[in-house]
Amino acid sequence: MCGIVGYVGPREATSIIMEGLKRLEYRGYDSAGLAVIQNGRIERRRDVGKLANLERRLAESPVSGHIGIGHTRWATHGAPSMVNAHPHLDCAGRIALVHNGVIENFLELKEELLDRRHVFKSRTDTEVIVHLVEEAMKSGKDLLRAVMAAARKLRGSYALAVISADEPDKIVLARNESPLAIGIGDGMNFAASDVAAFIERTRRIIFLDNGEVGYITPTEARVFKLETGMEVRKRIVELDWTPEMAMKSGYPHFMLKEIYEQPHSIREALKVQEKYLDLITEFLDRGRDVFLLAAGTSYNACVAASYMLSKLARLATTPVIASEFTENYGKSVGIDTVILAVSQSGETADVLAAIEHARLSAATILGLTNVVGSTLTRVSRAYILQNSGPEIGVAATKTFTAQLTVLAQLALRLARKRGKLAQYEIDELKDELEKLPELVEEAIKISDEPIKKLAKELKNVGSIFFLGRGISYATALEARLKVMELSYIPCIAYPAGESKHGPISVIEPGYPVFFIAPEDPTRKQVIGNVMEMKARGARIYCVGTEGDEELRENSDWWLELPRVSEVLSPVVYVIPFQLLAYHLAVEKGYDPDKPRNLAKSVTVQ
Ligand code: F6R
Repeated sequence: MCGIVGYVGPREATSIIMEGLKRLEYRGYDSAGLAVIQNGRIERRRDVGKLANLERRLAESPVSGHIGIGHTRWATHGAPSMVNAHPHLDCAGRIALVHNGVIENFLELKEELLDRRHVFKSRTDTEVIVHLVEEAMKSGKDLLRAVMAAARKLRGSYALAVISADEPDKIVLARNESPLAIGIGDGMNFAASDVAAFIERTRRIIFLDNGEVGYITPTEARVFKLETGMEVRKRIVELDWTPEMAMKSGYPHFMLKEIYEQPHSIREALKVQEKYLDLITEFLDRGRDVFLLAAGTSYNACVAASYMLSKLARLATTPVIASEFTENYGKSVGIDTVILAVSQSGETADVLAAIEHARLSAATILGLTNVVGSTLTRVSRAYILQNSGPEIGVAATKTFTAQLTVLAQLALRLARKRGKLAQYEIDELKDELEKLPELVEEAIKISDEPIKKLAKELKNVGSIFFLGRGISYATALEARLKVMELSYIPCIAYPAGESKHGPISVIEPGYPVFFIAPEDPTRKQVIGNVMEMKARGARIYCVGTEGDEELRENSDWWLELPRVSEVLSPVVYVIPFQLLAYHLAVEKGYDPDKPRNLAKSVTVQ
């Protein structure tokens, strides 16, 4: 996620903004910039890469003033480059704006603005906003009203901070779905997307809510409702967080923060642009052989995707572990082969090596990744971005559910293209997709406390079994990976029906066996598998659908989650297992953010 910092007051704005940007470095970024009002003009400095590069630029060409905004960018629209770095300016260079989030309707807005002869310098969605503000100011509005007028035209998520050389003591702010906070100082005020940016200067905070706009001057902080323009009386919160706690938004670890962030990251994953979905759908439809290629958690997302594509679009695909691809399928790859490579980082060496091999055999390479400008985006014929923002915990959580959300949209789109679903089925699934953020929020709320208790019970077990049928097999694979990599407890995952062909011999009285059993067409058979395990003395832990009495009665431990359609169930039913992995690590005294021997991006084969 990008970072925003703003300062207005008697001190030198540049150094305070740079200090704030450094505090936000932990979020990850690919470029940075700031704009300060100096002698009635906007002065901007930007650079790609680390903040040290921006500092060097400032040393070569210093800027001085008492009001300014800064930004660290994590590219979503437009590659990481100098021209795409924020702040963005209007045509006259009198307004500067920084933005976090994704504007869904930026292409339509850009066309309108181009017709009005606005000149665009970047390929970002953000730049349309500053030109919209310019348009509104041209028609006589002050900066606050102009930002309101612009924000009313936006569809998508945003946190905005805007300054204008014509109102040199004011930073205007706006928020929808991307966080933004005001820090109240003494004769000075601050703004940031994350209070970590200014927590050492003030602990008195106003958090903006969705649909609110406001402004700060050195002595004022006012907030209004975007819809009505009415002023809102906001509460000032006194935070007793340390800077370390502020970076984690008060959570003890990044992993827990990222688990709780999932309603937001799923919402962002639902904003994938239609034209990219269409493009990838087109290629998938044309392939003779379609492989879903990935490693680790991303591979588990591919297993789920193979069920989605088969059930919705009647497309058979083969999920393949990247390091096995060349040996297993290398010789059969040709011009009719389509490979959808899924990689959060876009840099996993095993994935890139497999792609390279396939590319030399003329296969079509498609990508799904979280990192614009990553190698995967450069070698893919077409790619989709999942918009999750940087994930700091080494174990993938929010990026997994975001991958699933994008893959489900792809499967649905392909189903529609192929005419494989009735219109009412498409509409129902679309509605369910929209509801996913709330369902996940509910699943987190329901699970966290009981799972925390369960972690105490399980912390000393020697191994754990995870079983699921159908698409829940993918959830079982991910449950196993999360629990194993964070708690260091050896774990086994199997399709529930396959467990009797061998693994069942491991079972002895009290052995913990988890069933992922949402109500779906496999449920009856899952009950049979539960009985098999019970008969051998296993202790049954079951995560099922609310109201499923039969399964509840047959379980020694039971957690019920909201009903959700079969193909989307992994997004919701993986939540308790992410929490289980987290709480087991904490119980056992391990660092959940940095499991031993693992790296966030595995760039060796
Ligand atoms: C597990 C985990 C890893 C990654 C794997 C692939 O929690 O994070 O298994 O999923 O290394 O990484 P990407 O998706 O970046 O290719």
